Amino acid sequence: MAARHRAFVLRHTRLRPVRGLEGMRLHLTDEVLPLWHAAQIETGDPDAALPYWAFAWAGGLAIVRYLQEHPATVAGRTVLDLASGSGLCAIAAKAAGAVAVTAADIDPFAIAAIELNGRANGRRVSTTTRDLLDDGPPEIDVILAGDCLYEARLAERILPWLRAARDRGSEVLIGDPGRRYLPSDGLLELASYEVRTTTELEDLDRKRAWVYAVRSAAAPS
Ligand SMILES: C[S@@+](CC[C@H](N)C(=O)[O-])C[C@H]1O[C@@H](n2cnc3c(N)ncnc32)[C@H](O)[C@@H]1O
Repeated sequence: MAARHRAFVLRHTRLRPVRGLEGMRLHLTDEVLPLWHAAQIETGDPDAALPYWAFAWAGGLAIVRYLQEHPATVAGRTVLDLASGSGLCAIAAKAAGAVAVTAADIDPFAIAAIELNGRANGRRVSTTTRDLLDDGPPEIDVILAGDCLYEARLAERILPWLRAARDRGSEVLIGDPGRRYLPSDGLLELASYEVRTTTELEDLDRKRAWVYAVRSAAAPS
């Protein structure tokens, strides 16, 4: 991890418990705009990505709750946490007994946060900033995708990729609070949870969020 990114995360966040989640602490912040401005200054880029990694998003929180209730989903298996953000789903997968977990995010600040958060929770996860959506899905037992369907361009890329991963044998879980680009077909609802979030990001500080399994193209609807 670049020392600069690590120092930035440490300077602008506080390690603290995640509301509504047992036993996980993350480097988080309360306000999105001051941190975004700091990232713009740090990178010299007015189009710097929003600091998604400094929040636990509703979709990811639902996946964590699901893995805590159903550890067998990942226990003894290899896991990819795609669009990992703070790394909360990756950390939860490791805590549930996954043998190897990779957290992927294209934002280098997210990678720094994931590594710090992994260490803070005593869970080792591998990381990559490579944009995995540029290639076919890797061979992996389980793919987690928490709160990725908030933007048209990302949804257009990620949904066919997740379906392709499912068709080649990965189990694929999506966590989502009803974002605009959540598809209305091809998903099997597994569970829903009321999760604690923040009005910095959402209209309400409690949201219902769902966990879905992506159906294989061969499965009956
Ligand atoms: C709303 S956040 C969700 C983070 C986390 N999964 C959660 O639920 O808290 C979406 C994340 O997707 C990441 N992202 C966007 N495009 C991506 C891509 N092509 N590959 C991997 N991550 C991506 C962003 O950097 C951001 O961290």
